[in-house]
Parts: sequence; C-alpha cells; structure tokens
Amino acid sequence: MRVRFLGTAAGGGLPQWNCACAGCAAARHAGFGRTQDCLAVTCDGAAWYLLNASPDLRLQLAAAPDLAPGPGLRDTPVRGVLCSTGELDHTLGLVTLREATSLAIYATAPVRAALEGPFPVGPVLSRYTTVRWHEVVPGHWFNLDGGLMVKAVTLGAKRPRYADGLPGDDWVVAYRLVDPVTGGVLVYAPCLAQLSEAFLDVIVHADVVVLDGTFLHEDEMTREAGGGRPASAMGHLPIEQTVAKLPAGTRLIYTHLNNTNPLARPGAPELTGAEIAADGQVLDL
Ligand code: MLT
Ligand code: MN
Ligand code: ZN
Repeated sequence: MRVRFLGTAAGGGLPQWNCACAGCAAARHAGFGRTQDCLAVTCDGAAWYLLNASPDLRLQLAAAPDLAPGPGLRDTPVRGVLCSTGELDHTLGLVTLREATSLAIYATAPVRAALEGPFPVGPVLSRYTTVRWHEVVPGHWFNLDGGLMVKAVTLGAKRPRYADGLPGDDWVVAYRLVDPVTGGVLVYAPCLAQLSEAFLDVIVHADVVVLDGTFLHEDEMTREAGGGRPASAMGHLPIEQTVAKLPAGTRLIYTHLNNTNPLARPGAPELTGAEIAADGQVLDL
C-alpha cells in the first residue's frame, strides 16, 4: 500500500487567511504552509482513493506525480473518495472533482444525508458527473479497486455545524485499510474525541496510525488564539493526551494540525514517541 499525505492541516490551513496568531504569522514569515487534511491511498499503484476531499484538492492533486492523469485524455487514477466526516474541510473538495467522468463517494448514512441535505454537494455534483454513493456501514469490510480492504469504525457523533439537528450516530469514523498482498495496515483517524474501545480495537497490529493532531494542548485556543473551547470539547483530543497513551510499538503520525498547534510550525521541536505528518510525505506499507 502506498499512502500520500496530500495535506496535513485542520480547517483553515496554515497560514489561515484571516489569522494573525503566532503560528500563522511564523508560517507567513517563513513562506511555509500546510494544506488541509487529505490522504491518497493505493494498493496496486493504479487505482487511488482519497481519504476526504479537502478544499485544497486541486493544488494537492497537481503536486502529486502519482496522481497525474493519463494515458487516455481523461483517464485518472482517482477512483473515489472515502469521507471520515462531513465537515467542510473534508468535503469541500468534492466540488473540485466535478470534471470526473464518474465519482464514487463512500460515506456513512448520516454523512451522506448531510451531503444531500444541508450541504447539497451530492445533488449539485450529480449535474456535472455520475455520482456513485457507497454506504459505509461501520464494522463491515468492503473492497476497493486495486485490492484494498477497508473497514470503518464509529468514533463519535459530532455533526458538522451546518448539519446541526440531523439524526444518526455514525458521524465521525476511522478507517482501517489493509493491503492483502503486503499485509500492510493503515488506520486513519483525523478526528478523535476519546480513546474509545472502538478506537483501541481498530488500531491493533496497525503498521501506521494516522491520527488527530489538531491540538497539542487541551487549552490551546486560550493560549494561542486568545479564547475558545477546550480541545476535547471541540471533538479533538489533544496530542498531550494521546501520545503516551497508545500501545508501545505503534507508529503514530499526527495530521489535521490546527494553525494554533505549536508542532505545526516551521522549525517545531520533534515529538518524542510520534511523528508529525508533512504535506507530500509518502509511506509504503
Ligand atoms: C473540525 O475538525 O472540528 C471541523 O473541521 C471544524 C471546522 O468546521 O472547521
Ligand atoms: Mn476539521
Ligand atoms: Zn492562526
């Protein structure tokens, strides 16, 4: 399995257009940036799937040589998108894919309802391309082109703000992806509100766990942005509460870094026991 980090920032990116916090100012000064969280994965090198579709997708795809179109005029290795949430920073990029001949979208029932309701990207896209919906049922394995085997588990019921009041439980999921040829296992969990049994179970024997690095500190919004809610109340356990709590020997790579996170900045100190993802980083599992 090959994994490419297309983007590693939380909503807003780094720097965020309207933010003058220390992290955004440092990034601006250094000419450094992170685009919004999105991963691309493949088993066979030919069929690629996106894990979430970030608002920065067009530039992210253009910067990824593996994902270039061809050999036919409109051939693309991008087969579809697996949504881990319905949040705007994970779904706005769907609009960018409207030129596709067809597009497979994998989402849980509540996330699909959001994308066909209060954020009607599904109905809008279907005027431009053939949208093929695949319902993700947590706990059930499914297969993707190229051989990848995938299972989702529910991590939480935090709805996007635009979907406030919609029913359902499976709003935030983690994906476990397995390459049956190499045996490589990746878990992707960019929104993690608690170290639940379901999460601890889905990471067992994973080679790499890509997880929620939105915040370093529980009180980071107060420290860095002059106010705001605690990290865990925003659905994101801070790194300081996960890094030493997961089974030893698990390779942890934090992504979805908010611009307030001191570890997201250029020249940030190294983290002991885990890694911080970089835009463009590639893993072979
Ligand atoms: C989140 O990760 O909690 C959301 O993407 C927040 C947002 O709306 O930007
Ligand atoms: Mn987000
Ligand atoms: Zn900022």
